[in-house]
Amino acid sequence: MGESIRGLKRTHMCAELGINDVGKNVTVMGWCHRTRNLGGVIFINIRDRSGIIQTVYNDESDPEIFEKAGTVRGEYVVAVSGVVSKRAPEAVNPEMATGEIEIIAKELRILSSAETPPMYIEENSDVNEVTRLKYRYIDLRRPDMQRNLMLRHRISKIARDYYDEKGFLEIETPMLTKSTPEGARDYLIPSRVHPGKFFALPQSPQLFKQLLMVSGFDRYFQIVKCFRDEDLRADRQPEFTQIDLEMSFVNVDDVLSVNEEFIKRLFKEAINVDIETPLLRMPYKEAMERFGSDKPDIRFGLELVNVSDLVENCGFKVFSDAVKDGGSVRAINAKGCGEKFKRKEIDALVELVKTYKAKGMAWIVVEENGLKSSITKFFSEDEMNAILQRVEAEPGDLICFVADKDQVVFDSLGQLRLEIARKLGLTDSKEFKLLWVTEFPLLEYDEEEKRYVAKHHPFTSPMDEDIELLDTDPGKVRAKAYDMVLNGNEIGGGSIRIHSQDLQSKMFKLLGFSEEDAWARFGFLLEAFKYGTPPHGGMAFGLDRLVMLMAGRSSIRDVIAFPKVQNASCLMSNAPDSVEPEQLKELHIKLDL
Ligand code: AMO
Ligand code: AMP
Repeated sequence: MGESIRGLKRTHMCAELGINDVGKNVTVMGWCHRTRNLGGVIFINIRDRSGIIQTVYNDESDPEIFEKAGTVRGEYVVAVSGVVSKRAPEAVNPEMATGEIEIIAKELRILSSAETPPMYIEENSDVNEVTRLKYRYIDLRRPDMQRNLMLRHRISKIARDYYDEKGFLEIETPMLTKSTPEGARDYLIPSRVHPGKFFALPQSPQLFKQLLMVSGFDRYFQIVKCFRDEDLRADRQPEFTQIDLEMSFVNVDDVLSVNEEFIKRLFKEAINVDIETPLLRMPYKEAMERFGSDKPDIRFGLELVNVSDLVENCGFKVFSDAVKDGGSVRAINAKGCGEKFKRKEIDALVELVKTYKAKGMAWIVVEENGLKSSITKFFSEDEMNAILQRVEAEPGDLICFVADKDQVVFDSLGQLRLEIARKLGLTDSKEFKLLWVTEFPLLEYDEEEKRYVAKHHPFTSPMDEDIELLDTDPGKVRAKAYDMVLNGNEIGGGSIRIHSQDLQSKMFKLLGFSEEDAWARFGFLLEAFKYGTPPHGGMAFGLDRLVMLMAGRSSIRDVIAFPKVQNASCLMSNAPDSVEPEQLKELHIKLDL
């Protein structure tokens, strides 16, 4: 039970008050952050989402209110009226935004008492995540979490304003819909009215936004929930939010430039960071060869170096066979790490590359007067010198090699590169390095299914100069597809779409869809394309990832109010949960557990 606020009106948020308010009568309302009882005087720090202010209760001048203040505990909700006064110089707290002032309380109301919360309400506390998520509403009281969600709001607001200014219309698309082609598993919703039939929650609004282009809306955007039943990681949630958009009568350049201007504006307005545009544009192939990744972190070097030509005929069969079998041998020169890393640390790097399917990692430590390595014996002096020269080796360096199929070499060295950068502290979360990765392959060969699958989605257009390869060497065809990458994270992606029916049919054929399959799945889009379709393209940003990086966090859970955990459940509400047998019956569902 608590007192009422009748007759009281909040005049200020706690941290709005400052030295200019001294002498004013004010009323603040919030949570008791901390109390200190110094005998004759009690201090209560009151917290709301703006920050904290100190309130003071004096036994001598006001024994009644002093006594009441003595009953206030942590997280009680209170209203305090009083006079703002300047603190004595020795009592000024430079750590606090309101540290020069305090409120001498005249009235105190306890609006709600509170049990001892399961965690301290403090910045970046290291409470375990299970407790944090079970009591998320308390976790969200922490100042850093409040800042994250306020930043998220700012980012959404700036996005709406920006795209509105550029002529984009926000149009909602359905949540109860048909399966969309983003390649993850669908979340299904059974239909009561249509026994045995299911809606799918959208993995993205892809098909609908293309239909909106057919309808002539010209420019669409939406801040929209998407649902994907896939393995969760720190940067993935089963429901997440996209800033999704589509434009008509555009080419790749048009889409990239309107969206990089958005990012520039966003960083400036939300976190006062200057981003230089146009952003770097790097073809996929170059990204793989230099960084071993299609989402390269370009805050640091440690680039991959191809030494295949130098080792093709060497005596070390691991290397020469890899090249002869059509693979490659590539190296990373970890500058100075030969000196820095202990043997145990190098062994850990070998284990790391093995988790990415490399069979091993050969290495050389370059010393002032010689080399330390198990592989030097396989190379002539000339061969070794050529390799050392290629990787620009100097005393103190550690050179790491992987020999394998290109994909394995890229994956393992790409990850090795990130690990070395982390160990060397080269990843400053306050530095923002953005680029576009362009010219993605159109298709990817799926070894399990023994067929090509679309790398982006089946509506992505091939590059004009590669269209002929569709018939002869489809694996080599590049797409008009692009990703925006920030510090090694894919924060957005999109493409120019196919708008010709012939090309679309050819694409479905390549993907192994029969004409009937294609019509069964995407018929409404294919039908629409018959009635006059503008050339169009677009992209979607992952809002959660963008906020995460801009807030300097390493998990998107920290920027989502009520996220799910690893096994796609909500610890607070206990969803998903079982339902009443009658509900299942209504839905014509029998469980088979
Ligand atoms: P894509 O599948 O690349 O493209 O998704 C766009 C962006 O959404 C973010 N994202 C995610 N964020 C959190 N959790 C997830 N599970 C998750 N999955 C994706 C990423 C990604 O870059 N319809 C196309 C866009 C288009 O072609 O216009 C699409 O959805 O940051
Ligand atoms: P081995 O002859 O198998 O003992 O390997 C000699 C060295 O080469 C060891 O340091 C291995 O880790 C390394 N090595 C083995 N396979 C590969 C590979 N595919 N690529 C790079 N190095 C490898």
